[in-house]
Amino acid sequence: MELLEALRTRRSVRAFKKDPVPRDVLEKVFSDASNAPSAINMQPWEVHLAIGEELERLSRRLLRSYKERQLTCGPGTSRNLSEKFMDRSRECALAMTPLAERMGIDFKTFVNEGSLCFFGAPAAAFLCIDESFPAERFIDIGSFLAYLVLAAAGHGLSSCPIGLVTAYADDIKDMLNIPESKIVTVSLALGHPDPGSPINEFRSDREGTREFLRWID
Ligand SMILES: Cc1cc2nc3c(=O)[nH]c(=O)nc-3n(C[C@H](O)[C@H](O)[C@H](O)COP(=O)(O)O)c2cc1C
Repeated sequence: MELLEALRTRRSVRAFKKDPVPRDVLEKVFSDASNAPSAINMQPWEVHLAIGEELERLSRRLLRSYKERQLTCGPGTSRNLSEKFMDRSRECALAMTPLAERMGIDFKTFVNEGSLCFFGAPAAAFLCIDESFPAERFIDIGSFLAYLVLAAAGHGLSSCPIGLVTAYADDIKDMLNIPESKIVTVSLALGHPDPGSPINEFRSDREGTREFLRWID
C-alpha cells in the first residue's frame, strides 16, 4: 500500500480472523517500523510480541483480572478535559454501540473485554520503555507506534492500538517475563480483519485542520 493511501485509509480493526500471521511478515513489519524517528536516535522502544498459545494464555489471565478489578478504557486522566475532547470520544462510542449490539454484546463489555483479548488477533505487541527514560521520551514510543500501524498496513495487516493494557501491566509483566524496570506503554493487536464482523464497519472521523492548525504568518 502506498504511504499516503495508508495514512488516509488506515483505521483500527476490532475483530480479527484467528489465522496466524507468518513470522517473516511480522519480522518485516517491526523492521520497517524501526525507521521511526527518536530523540538523538536512542530508539528507546522494546517490543514483546506474543502469538499463538502464549497470547491466548495472556488473554485468559487479563480477562480474569478484568473481572476482579474492573479497570476500564477511558481518557486516562482524572482531570476534566474540555468538552470537545469528550464529545469526540462519546461520538466514537455512540457510533460503535449499535454495531456491538448487532454482535449481541453491549458496547462497554465489548470494548473492555475485547481490548483485553486483543479482539481475537493472532499477534499482540507490547511496546515498552525502560523506566530510566524521562516521560519526554514516551513520545518516541508514540512515534514508533505510528510507524508500526503504517508498516503493518503496508504489509497487508490490520491493527488496533490497545492502551487498556497499561492498567494490567503487572499481569502482563508476570505472564510475559518482562522485567519490573520496564514500563508497558501500549500494545498493538495485529492480524487480518474479520470481514463479516459488524464492528469493522466503524470508521472514526477526523476534524479538519481548522480545528488544530494555527498559521503564523
Ligand atoms: C494510545 C492508544 C490507546 C488506545 N487504546 C485503545 C483500547 O484500549 N481499546 C480500543 O478499542 N481502542 C484503543 N485505541 C484505538 C483508538 O480508539 C483509535 O485509534 C481512535 O478511535 C481513532 O480511530 P482509528 O485508529 O480507527 O483511526 C487506542 C489508540 C491509541 C493511539
